[in-house]
Amino acid sequence: FAGLRVNEAGHLEIGGCDTVELAEKYGTPLYVMDETIIRNNCRAYKEAINKYYDGYGMVLYASKAFCTTAICRIMEQEGLGLDVVSGGELYTAIKAGFPTERIYFHGNNKTIDEIRMGIEYNVGRFVVDNETELLNIEKIAAEKNRKVKILFRVKPGIDAHTHQFIKTGQIDSKFGVALENGEAHAFVEKAAGMEHIELVGVHCHIGSQIFELEPFGLAAEVMVNFIAEIRDRFGIQLSELNLGGGVGIKYTEKDSPIEYDRFVETISKTVKRICNTKKLGRIYILMEPGRSIVAPAGITLYRVGNVKDIKGVRKYVSVDGGMSDNPRYALYNAEYTALLANKPDSPKTETVTIAGKCCESGDIIAKDVKMPVTEPGDIVAVLATGAYNYSMAMNYNRIGKPPVVLVKDGKDRLIVRRETYDDIIRHDLIPDDL
Ligand code: LLP
Repeated sequence: FAGLRVNEAGHLEIGGCDTVELAEKYGTPLYVMDETIIRNNCRAYKEAINKYYDGYGMVLYASKAFCTTAICRIMEQEGLGLDVVSGGELYTAIKAGFPTERIYFHGNNKTIDEIRMGIEYNVGRFVVDNETELLNIEKIAAEKNRKVKILFRVKPGIDAHTHQFIKTGQIDSKFGVALENGEAHAFVEKAAGMEHIELVGVHCHIGSQIFELEPFGLAAEVMVNFIAEIRDRFGIQLSELNLGGGVGIKYTEKDSPIEYDRFVETISKTVKRICNTKKLGRIYILMEPGRSIVAPAGITLYRVGNVKDIKGVRKYVSVDGGMSDNPRYALYNAEYTALLANKPDSPKTETVTIAGKCCESGDIIAKDVKMPVTEPGDIVAVLATGAYNYSMAMNYNRIGKPPVVLVKDGKDRLIVRRETYDDIIRHDLIPDDL
């Protein structure tokens, strides 16, 4: 796991900071993000576009993976664009001073208010999901006397959500319009006739945590072929192709992710090849990595409260967080690698289940994982928690969300403060007649 090492004190270190000291200083649970790794991941994608596609494209960071003002600032500095899916993500980007022309507004059910907000703030593109949204954008853009640039989301018929990706049968999805039943063609005709809409491209996203290159290549092929079909049938030249995110990362030793460079190479070469055979001009490519940019940069630190050894059954190590800061086991049976931050080199001689403190049996962080002998007071570090942890955290049992610390070259800076009890009751009201 990149960025981690054991220091002279025998403690786990991230970004040059001692994790035991971080746990003391900020308390636990605590999310820690390594700034260098985040920036290196951004650069890996960008450099690959330069190398394989002459830089004719843009990396959009899928902010749903981890969205705060500081992270938006980093993405801005790295020259990335941003994928937002809600008014809340858009607002975060705006408050961070993110240039709105580099924002792509996604979402399968944008509200009227969100559409209005996107138009008022001048987002670069709307990625339109369906015809109702198209009509709503046209109407609001007309009221404001504006012309809005859009891409629209297509179901390419490739679903890579499972380990074995499937090539058809993805019509049953709430996202986007289908290709095979002519829905996408009808959409193009409709959009082309609208006065306040400028149709510039198409988008697809085939899944997340994907370990193979082939489905990405296939999706690129399907999409460029569709762009050629649109030209032949309607005489419309689409100039942008957004192929979504989905590159997988290593959570445990079992995972063997693809290199970011190879992902960009695959889509770049496929797009170039089909553009040549179909005699299409140059198409601007976009990709939307979320997890692969931030997940490997993050760890979560917890303090062990009690260890319950149910003889012959299971040993539970209970920590001071849980599904409220990381619901991924509860949702997906996700697997993680854990170690003891205060003694990372101790041999992993036991099999334990790391459980949280929520009132729910499914509140587990890692089931039946190898750990050293663990005692109350030990600091557990769970690795690769930089994506879809803080962003999916919740207040079940009225547990406050942990803070986030950004580390770099031995410096630690708080980028999200810990939720307090007063934060928890902030929106509560007691009516006068109670
Ligand atoms: N673009 C679109 C349109 C997406 O729907 C997503 C993720 C991404 C980009 C970024 O995908 P990534 O590079 O992060 O795989 N909560 C789940 C993951 C949900 C992903 C949803 N869409 C998890 O914790 O595994």
